[in-house]
Amino acid sequence: MTRQLHLNLFIHSRGHHEASWRHPDSSPLALTDIRYYQELAQRAEATKFDSIFLADQLALGGEVAQAARTWLEPITVLAAVAVATERIGLIATCSTTYTEPFNLARQFASIDHISNGRAAWNIVTSWLATAASNFGGEGQVSHADRYTRGEEFMTVVKKLWDSWADDALIDDRASGVYARADRIRPIDHRGDFYRVAGPLNMPRCPQGRPVLVQAGSSDTGRGFAARHAEAVFTAHVEKATAQEFYADLKRRAAAEGRDPAHVLILPGLSPMIASTEAEAQRLAREVNELTDPEVGRRRLSNRFGGHDFSHLPLDRPLSPEDFPDPGSVEAARSRTEVIINYVRREKATLRQLLGYLAGARGHFATAGTPEQIADLIEDWFIDGAADGFNIMPPLLPVQLDLFSAEVIPILQRRGLFRTEYQGTMLREHYGLPWPASDFDAPTEAAALHDA
Ligand SMILES: Cc1cc2nc3c(=O)[nH]c(=O)nc-3n(C[C@H](O)[C@H](O)[C@H](O)COP(=O)(O)O)c2cc1C
Repeated sequence: MTRQLHLNLFIHSRGHHEASWRHPDSSPLALTDIRYYQELAQRAEATKFDSIFLADQLALGGEVAQAARTWLEPITVLAAVAVATERIGLIATCSTTYTEPFNLARQFASIDHISNGRAAWNIVTSWLATAASNFGGEGQVSHADRYTRGEEFMTVVKKLWDSWADDALIDDRASGVYARADRIRPIDHRGDFYRVAGPLNMPRCPQGRPVLVQAGSSDTGRGFAARHAEAVFTAHVEKATAQEFYADLKRRAAAEGRDPAHVLILPGLSPMIASTEAEAQRLAREVNELTDPEVGRRRLSNRFGGHDFSHLPLDRPLSPEDFPDPGSVEAARSRTEVIINYVRREKATLRQLLGYLAGARGHFATAGTPEQIADLIEDWFIDGAADGFNIMPPLLPVQLDLFSAEVIPILQRRGLFRTEYQGTMLREHYGLPWPASDFDAPTEAAALHDA
C-alpha cells in the first residue's frame, strides 16, 4: 500500500478563526456543552480521521470579554468523547510543569482503558506566563527549566506505565487470584524534581502506553520530541520551513536510535473552503471583519511573554526590530520566530499581522476550493514537509463538514487516505509499534528504552 496520510481534527472554540464564536454559521451550542465535542468527534470519525485533539491552557486569557476562550478540562472531555465514539483517537494536552507524574500517568492510562486503546497525550511544558500564578509559583518557570523537568517527568511516567507486566492481571474468580503481585513492582524513582514510589494503581493500558504527542519547535523542544514523541504538531506558514523542520526532526529521531517513520510530523492547516477561490476568500474576509485588533494586540503580547506592543501604530509596516529577540522570550519561542519571519517576508503592518494571526494563531491559514486544498495537502505530503495534517477548521462544524465532504473524497480517490479504519486503536491508525514493556528488562535496558 502507498504511504498513507494521517489527519487529526484540532477542536478549538467554535473554530480556529479568532472571530468564529460570533459568526452566524458556527455551532449554536455552548462551549461548555459536551454534545459539541461529542458531535464533532463523531463527524470526524464518520470520515475516518485518525484522531481529535484538545489543547489546554492553565489560566484564563485576558481577552475573555471579546473572545471565546473558556473551555472544559480536556482529559474530562476525552472520557465523555470516548464513550460517544468507537474508533477515533483521542489526544489531550497536559502540562509537565503543573501536574505530578503519578496523576498524569493514571489519567491517561484511564482514558486508554475507557476508550479501548485510543488515548494520546500532547506533552507541553506550558508557555503561558500567567499559568504559574495559579499553581503557587512565584513566577514563570524558565524555558530551559521547564524542559529539564519535563525530561525527568517522562522517565517517571514511562516507568509507571510499565509498572504492571502485561500478564499481571488474572481476575480469576475460581482461584481467588485477582492479580499476580510478583508481576507488579514499585518504581522507586528518586530524581532532582520527583520522588515517586509507584507502582501505578491500575493494570497496564491497552496500548501499553498512551501515544505520545508533542509540539515543541525550539532547539530544546525538537530534541525532546526526537526522544519521546510519536506524533509532532507544528506551525509553518511556508512549505520550505516545514520541509526543514521535517528533515531535522527525522534526522534527530534517527540519531536517538529511533525509526524516523515512527515520528509523524503533522503541521497545522486551517483551510477556508468554498466552491470557488473568490468565494473562499470572500468568506475569509467576512470572518476577519468580525475581529477586534485590540484583542489581537493583547494576544500578540501574550505570545511574546507580555511584551508591550501598545505603542505600535496599526498601519505602519513592521520590521523585526519592533519585536523582542525570540531567544529572550520565555513563552513559546518557536511561534515568535514564525511571526517575525512573516513580518520580514510580507513587510506587514500590525493590522495585517493581526489579521493573519486571527486566522489560526500562526498556523498555515489558506482559502480555496476543495481541489486546491487537496493539491496543497498532497504536495506537502509527497515533498517531505508532512506525514499528515493537523486540520484546524476556521469555523466549526461547517468548515469541517466541507473538508470531510469535499476534500477527503479527493484524497481517497488519489489513494492517499483510508476509506476504512484498519484497526481499533490509535497506534494502528498511526502505524506505530507497541511500546515494549520495560517490566522484564534489566534496569540499564530500561534506561536505554526511556531515551
Ligand atoms: C498544534 C499545537 C498545539 C499546541 N497546544 C498547546 C497546548 O495545548 N498548550 C500549551 O501550553 N502549548 C501548546 N502548544 C505549544 C507547544 O507546546 C510549545 O510550547 C510551542 O510549540 C513552542 O515550543 P518551544 O517552547 O519548543 O518553542 C501547541 C503547539 C502547537 C503547534
